[in-house]
Amino acid sequence: MRAVRYTRTGGPEVLETVELPEPQPGPGEVAVDVTHAGVHFADVMFRRGQFPIDLPAVPGLQVAGTVAALGEGVTGLRVGQPVAAVPLGFGGHAERVVAGALTTVPLEGELAALAPATAAATAVNATTAVGTLRGAARITAGDRVLVTAASGALGTLLGQLARALGAALVVGAASTLERAERAVAAGGFDHGLPYGELARHTPDLTGGAGFDVVIDSVGGDLRGQVAPLLAVLGRHVVIGNAADHDLTLAANQVWYDSFTLAGYNLGGVAARRPDLFRAHLEEGLRLVADGTLRQEVEEIGWSDVARAHALLEERRGSGAYVLRVR
Ligand SMILES: NC(=O)c1ccc[n+]([C@@H]2O[C@H](COP(=O)([O-])OP(=O)(O)OC[C@H]3O[C@@H](n4cnc5c(N)ncnc54)[C@H](OP(=O)(O)O)[C@@H]3O)[C@@H](O)[C@H]2O)c1
Repeated sequence: MRAVRYTRTGGPEVLETVELPEPQPGPGEVAVDVTHAGVHFADVMFRRGQFPIDLPAVPGLQVAGTVAALGEGVTGLRVGQPVAAVPLGFGGHAERVVAGALTTVPLEGELAALAPATAAATAVNATTAVGTLRGAARITAGDRVLVTAASGALGTLLGQLARALGAALVVGAASTLERAERAVAAGGFDHGLPYGELARHTPDLTGGAGFDVVIDSVGGDLRGQVAPLLAVLGRHVVIGNAADHDLTLAANQVWYDSFTLAGYNLGGVAARRPDLFRAHLEEGLRLVADGTLRQEVEEIGWSDVARAHALLEERRGSGAYVLRVR
């Protein structure tokens, strides 16, 4: 089968298209014939060596396609069925991938209208948006919410979902004014601001109170800049580290400043609470199918995968890139 692979970590140039043997499903697993494979920022982080991964590796954490074979003990799925899947061990940028049955959802019933390209573009981030806002942020109607990296694929969905869940104010922040405006144009955000303008505008926007919820996927210095923007008893939700630079926070600071530090990690939740991951995945895909969550999708070919990685890594990405596999 055809697959994207890297044998060493590094820049987008380490990605190559190769022929590999088809993977076989083990117990509790499903083999999927992939039609569409979403390129995700996690593919970039693992490819550049930010986290350990066994090499050689095939990227790809979110796919759509049809069930090719069922592993031992799998029930409730059938060969030929259209599905979306999140192969948590990666491998999705290939003609066939193996995913856990619990992370494979039929595109039938209320998900029948979901286009495979859209499912492949949003499976991870729609799940994360639900888990982050409902699970970690415990969002309630009337909350004032700040989302960092607002123009990215996840940020767009977070803004839309915060609005749908009744937030009173949803502010999107990005590295440039142009990206902040792009976030607002995607729907969901009341205002878009460059990071450098946040401290100046937060008192006016929040009536002096600060944000009840700050969603922080960037890390680095920005983590320290957004922490003081929280309202008393606000929730600072850490869900990523795009800057590849963490910030050390003294636990006493949580006490002194009366705020909640929370987090959501999709892989961690899936490993320890697969039922909860499944619930977030199903709800996320339902919200995409019914139009509550909307994502601009750009289909690309095999030779464009490295370009898509470069665009995401250089903060020039727009929309969600989906490899058209067959
Ligand atoms: N916790 C989880 O389970 C989970 C799940 C999915 C995604 N995430 C994380 O959420 C973040 C957003 O994911 P996404 O799918 O929206 O990715 P994306 O579309 O590529 O967006 C990434 C955003 O991060 C910002 N960014 C800040 N520093 C960056 C840097 N040094 N390099 C590249 N981008 C940088 C960029 O916006 P600006 O230039 O405007 O800052 C960019 O829009 C990622 O960090 C990802 O790892 C976490």
